[in-house]
Amino acid sequence: MKKILFVTSEAHPLIKTGGLADVCGSLPKALAELSQDIKLILPNYQALKTTEKVRFLCSIRVDNRSVNILETRMPGSHVTVWLVDYPVYYNYPGNPYIDEQGEPWPINAERFALFCRIAVEAAMDRIHQGWKPDIVHCNDWQSGLVPALLSLEQDRPATVFTIHNMAYQGLFTGSTAATLNLPGKLWQPEGLEFHEMLSFIKGGLVYADYITTVSPTYALEIQTPEFGYGLEGLLGHRKESLGGIINGIDLDQWNPETDPYITQHYSATTLNKKLLNKYELQRRFALPVNERIPLLGLIGRLVEQKGIDLIIECIPEMAAMDMQFVLLGSGDKGFEKQLKKLAELYPDNIAIHIGYDETLAHVIEAGADIFLMPSRFEPCGLNQMYSQRYGTIPVVRKTGGLADTVVDTLPETLANQTASGIVFNEASSSSLLEAIKRALILYSYPDTWKKMQTNALKMDFSWQRSAEQYLALYEKLEADTQLSRRGD
Ligand code: ADP
Ligand code: GLC
Repeated sequence: MKKILFVTSEAHPLIKTGGLADVCGSLPKALAELSQDIKLILPNYQALKTTEKVRFLCSIRVDNRSVNILETRMPGSHVTVWLVDYPVYYNYPGNPYIDEQGEPWPINAERFALFCRIAVEAAMDRIHQGWKPDIVHCNDWQSGLVPALLSLEQDRPATVFTIHNMAYQGLFTGSTAATLNLPGKLWQPEGLEFHEMLSFIKGGLVYADYITTVSPTYALEIQTPEFGYGLEGLLGHRKESLGGIINGIDLDQWNPETDPYITQHYSATTLNKKLLNKYELQRRFALPVNERIPLLGLIGRLVEQKGIDLIIECIPEMAAMDMQFVLLGSGDKGFEKQLKKLAELYPDNIAIHIGYDETLAHVIEAGADIFLMPSRFEPCGLNQMYSQRYGTIPVVRKTGGLADTVVDTLPETLANQTASGIVFNEASSSSLLEAIKRALILYSYPDTWKKMQTNALKMDFSWQRSAEQYLALYEKLEADTQLSRRGD
């Protein structure tokens, strides 16, 4: 049994802004189911939705600050959660990273540096709990200083750093680095420095014993200038210690047979019942209720990554076709405004809900016929997997995890019963439109469509497979650590 400290800035259902939370909510549970001893550590944000008891665990003094650590559990599970409680830094309402105007909280560097320092204290058991992990598994830039700081410790646990998105690097001015009082040894171009800026993500990329990212294709893509944001050289240099492990999905939360948020449950053998969910979705978005008209959906952060600009360009032509389109999301204010305008212009075809709404996300997955995900890049992506599990055919761009989880519909993939979606190559509105047209043609052949839905519904996106891959990696790293200690 391995002891694993899982360091993350979000975990569903405690706190979520995106897929990172889904993963950090599910993977620790999947590892616990494989009999591993795992604890999560995250900041004690005001918006945290705890349902289990919270108790005081200990107090610790770090960098002249006295910080409390609280203990609770992941709702509905036995996985222990340690909450780093320092109200001056974490007791803000709403989003963990940005304010209501979408601006980063001004002291993010300080907030996450302190979080990392406390994670290191926990990793070295300087919080005196009689529990020292074998592995510290860090996620995204907010935890990036952990492998860096741990690299300076004797007898330290092995470290894994998972990249969920290279676009977010935790870059701060060089002068911030000075105020954080970080060990001087880390401040160098081969360390945390990135063009005179402080880069949190480099802490993970340079110092972790192993780097993973959330799909095999993205693991290759980030070694190229297009996806590496200037860090492709470093990643290429570390390629022997870099691999992709595809995310799974929570099969209990995303299950059309039991989903509490949807009108009508259904399965691969009762696909015709999905129709009632379509009616409900059309009603909710005040679109004409019509069985025949194909209904397209999209859920996501409204940012360039997700190809929202491509969608906006396509909408006038989409509205001229015999189809409906519903979108749920929030993000870039410019995109929000343009989308609202288009919905006003085409009220019979296009409906937009700006905001974050978990229930509605389930209603869309169950009710839509087709799900759009034209991402410019996508480290893994979860909605295309949720869609397939709901028999909702995804239209995706061939990038990152989308390329790894959706099988394009072609004569051969129809014949071998793997066709589960529509995949297109180029990040352009004309390619997206072509792909949508291809989906609409296939939709007009009910037998073919049903075959695609059945294939999609049967795909295995369980966490177990991925958790086993992480476990194999932890075992290898621990064996390497022991070997190198013996060699010392
Ligand atoms: P990313 O992490 O890049 O945002 P993913 O596809 O990995 O993309 O995960 C996004 C997650 O956030 C999914 O669970 C999706 O349903 C959810 N989500 C995104 N936007 C919204 C929204 N506006 N309302 C409800 N859920 C949302
Ligand atoms: C990131 C990525 C997304 C991925 C998620 C979870 O937010 O943008 O593609 O699915 O992390 O790993």
